[in-house]
Amino acid sequence: MKILLTGANGQLGSCLQDLAKNSSLFTVIATDYQDLDITNQQAVIDFVDNTKPDIIVNAAAHTAVDKAQSEVELATAINANGPEYLAKAANIAAIPMIHVSTDYVFDGTATRPYLPNHPAKPLGVYGETKWQGEQAVRNTLAEHIIIRTAWVFSEYGNNFVKTMLRLAAEREELGVIADQYGCPTYAGDLAAAILHCCEQINAGNSAWGSYHHCGDLPSSWHGFTRAILAEGLAQGKLSKVAVLKAIKTEDYPLPAPRPAYSVMDCASMLKAWGVGASDWRSSLIKVVSLL
Ligand SMILES: NC(=O)c1ccc[n+]([C@@H]2O[C@H](COP(=O)([O-])OP(=O)(O)OC[C@H]3O[C@@H](n4cnc5c(N)ncnc54)[C@H](OP(=O)(O)O)[C@@H]3O)[C@@H](O)[C@H]2O)c1
Repeated sequence: MKILLTGANGQLGSCLQDLAKNSSLFTVIATDYQDLDITNQQAVIDFVDNTKPDIIVNAAAHTAVDKAQSEVELATAINANGPEYLAKAANIAAIPMIHVSTDYVFDGTATRPYLPNHPAKPLGVYGETKWQGEQAVRNTLAEHIIIRTAWVFSEYGNNFVKTMLRLAAEREELGVIADQYGCPTYAGDLAAAILHCCEQINAGNSAWGSYHHCGDLPSSWHGFTRAILAEGLAQGKLSKVAVLKAIKTEDYPLPAPRPAYSVMDCASMLKAWGVGASDWRSSLIKVVSLL
């Protein structure tokens, strides 16, 4: 099965390449910005026509949540127009597409885990443009899977785990937000989920639609940090750690507003595709060991 992977050098893209290498079923055409700019419609259509993939997996995105507030045009091009062009190209080639989206399409006012069909109400530009991208995929291509994920970490790129390990070593005291709740997700678990869907599609499963895949246990950023620092100490990656303090969202003003509660329900993904939520605590042990 030939997969056209966009955003191949990002966290998800890198993990997906690693996993696909160990499978005889998949050939990955790995592309990043330099090989295929998803904001160039004609380039996308030509690339798909020339390489003839069996499926497109879109892991490309503008993921800098705060920067997006002042880069509306760029975020719209990458998060909204890019997915639309990929879906158009998939439509022309009569192939399916797996697109990845975010918990930040929700406003965070729910009191129980969000179901995939819960009304979206993004708070910031990142969430808004990702929502536009989702809608473009839905409206353009019937054979799609949209997988929303959250709080992604991995051994690759810049992410919260790496930042907290660095700051804990540098500082005496570390204040981390304790009133925003979400589900940390290992990019490798998401990559495995996507490859499992590809395998299922290859075998004839056609449960197209929108799903959630994220960590199985909600946490606050503060709780997540506590787990990261404990693992850093346990594995000898930290010789000393900063004193961890719980702070409120209002104590740490950022350009983009975030949902206070973006916990997502992953049950439908298990039912339709046989993929369970990410065991992020086990994956955190692995990631810390690789750093
Ligand atoms: N990271 C999170 O916490 C998080 C949370 C929820 C949902 N998600 C979603 O999960 C997916 C994967 O996220 P990730 O963390 O793996 O993202 P990432 O590490 O930021 O990777 C995104 C990749 O897309 C590439 N890219 C940017 N613009 C492009 C363009 N015009 N054409 C082609 N490639 C382009 C980037 O290249 P450059 O680096 O060269 O720009 C980068 O390699 C995304 O859909 C994201 O929205 C992520």
